[in-house]
Amino acid sequence: MYKVAVIPGDGTGPEMVREGLKVLKAAEDKFKFKTEVVDYDLGGERYLKTGEILPDKVLDELREFDTIYLGAIGHPDVKPGILEKGLLLTMRFNLDLFINLRPVKLLPGVYTPIKNKGPEDIDFVVVRENTEGLYAGAGGFLRKDTPHEIAVQESINTRHGVERCLRYAFDYCRAKGKQKKLTLCGKTNALTYASDLWERVFNEIKPFYPEIECNYAHVDAICMWMVKNPEWFDVIVTDNMFGDIISDLGAMIQGGMGIAASGNLNPGQVSMFEPIGGSAPKYAGKETINPLASICAVAMMLDYLGETGAAESIEKAVGEVCSSRLKSLNAGEMGYSTSAVGDMVAELL
Ligand code: IPM
Ligand code: MN
Repeated sequence: MYKVAVIPGDGTGPEMVREGLKVLKAAEDKFKFKTEVVDYDLGGERYLKTGEILPDKVLDELREFDTIYLGAIGHPDVKPGILEKGLLLTMRFNLDLFINLRPVKLLPGVYTPIKNKGPEDIDFVVVRENTEGLYAGAGGFLRKDTPHEIAVQESINTRHGVERCLRYAFDYCRAKGKQKKLTLCGKTNALTYASDLWERVFNEIKPFYPEIECNYAHVDAICMWMVKNPEWFDVIVTDNMFGDIISDLGAMIQGGMGIAASGNLNPGQVSMFEPIGGSAPKYAGKETINPLASICAVAMMLDYLGETGAAESIEKAVGEVCSSRLKSLNAGEMGYSTSAVGDMVAELL
């Protein structure tokens, strides 16, 4: 029995989550496990009504779950940054979800904008540090709203934070890497403090993983190669900001926001899983968005919980839906409604 907290959130979040839970139920019947699901009405609506984003009491309750399943956060009537900081980043920081795991896998039949590349070429994982760096909130304004204003945003990189992220990436590569190849993504030619620390710790850990081929690349070069030679990559490990950016590039080459999912992990503790697409308010309630990203987030969640058979079956069913049923992964162009796509995956399971 797994305890799952569900936060449908804003915009298309509730539709996405509904389809993910449909597939979760189908997986439960087939693979003989059970979940207890508790809904939380966090998000833009609650904030506008009550001013609450993530009350301490709720945060404490969340700690008692095995996993959290999130739809999307972001409301057109709430200034950008408020809900993201108050909910998403607060959960990441307070639950110490120090890894953001982003698989970039092109499933068969899915369109990639990269010419002459197929599923055998695009299959890697981005391991993003998720609690430090430029996201730590260090900095501030000086002389705000004057012509001499100063805005400082510092990148915080602790030895502890860097090391645990790198160790996770090495372990992940050892256990799951297809090529046993780990690439450190940084910017040692310009960010001579932060990237230097990352590189030193990377080189210190390397000898303990002799079977892993290690290399380093600058983040800008990684952006070129993810497009030109995506097959070079197996596991990429990087800091919070670089990871944020290259994960979206990764999402596009694997078929877009309709399919990309992520895990925010504190290994062994409550961890959070979400589609990465955002709340897409203009599509909300229209039954046109693609729920596969959200279904893939359920697969990642089950894999995390140790239900690997169920996770693999969901991924296989999603692959089949992509290759033989959907016209496109884009919202409104699938040839089916949101709920019909969820039904297909659940039936295939
Ligand atoms: C992501 C998102 C968030 C981030 C935003 C919503 C704060 O882009 O999960 O990648 O930048 O981490
Ligand atoms: Mn992002």
